[in-house]
Amino acid sequence: MEILPHDLQMYLEDHCDPEPPELQKINRETYLKVLQPHMLSGHYQGRLLSMLSKMMQPKSILEIGTFTGYSTICLAEGLADDGIIHTIEINREMEEMLIQHYKSTNVEKKVKQYFGPAAQIIVEIKENNFDLAFIDADKRNNLNYFQLVIEKIRSGGLIIIDNVLWKGKVYGAENDTDTRLIRELNDHITQDTRVEKLILPVRDGVMLIRKK
Ligand SMILES: C[S@@+](CC[C@H](N)C(=O)[O-])C[C@H]1O[C@@H](n2cnc3c(N)ncnc32)[C@H](O)[C@@H]1O
Repeated sequence: MEILPHDLQMYLEDHCDPEPPELQKINRETYLKVLQPHMLSGHYQGRLLSMLSKMMQPKSILEIGTFTGYSTICLAEGLADDGIIHTIEINREMEEMLIQHYKSTNVEKKVKQYFGPAAQIIVEIKENNFDLAFIDADKRNNLNYFQLVIEKIRSGGLIIIDNVLWKGKVYGAENDTDTRLIRELNDHITQDTRVEKLILPVRDGVMLIRKK
């Protein structure tokens, strides 16, 4: 999943804040017990999410794609004292593990968990002035999620989308459906004058999008 050479990735991980012990446990548990554990953001990207959230000090965050809660907890680190992260996951089997993870990291009062298809739930959530959003679920729907989320983000708010470099395929010759859809998403956002945007070559590519 890494775009950067492994040695460089190791160097970056050695020169950022260490992964907090409770997140290390969640990372390890995910690799031991859950299918497709590589979907978890991990140490370096987790610290990026935490840093961005701390810089924004959001009162409200919207996350699409909770998985085992790793990124939820990283983003929650930056919440204002009375802030809430709303996070959506389609797989209800994660519920028990998520309850434990939110408890072990003391964020249970700051997380509002939803189970179900994100496209439906985003529309149902009443809040429409989010400071920060993280889109990291089924990649084929990213453009739809972006269009729904942009309506619910305040001016000056930040949208983060994961996996936008798609293992480097978006700038190669590949033409499979997933690659084409992610290329279309990136091209669409590049042309969208409502937002400022740039891609960070972190892990599988992270796009930062600021609503004007
Ligand atoms: C890449 S993982 C999220 C990783 C997590 N954000 C992290 O960094 O630790 C994607 C998650 O999105 C969920 N998902 C897939 N399709 C979804 C949908 N339509 N609505 C909500 N969640 C969905 C998957 O079940 C999976 O848990």
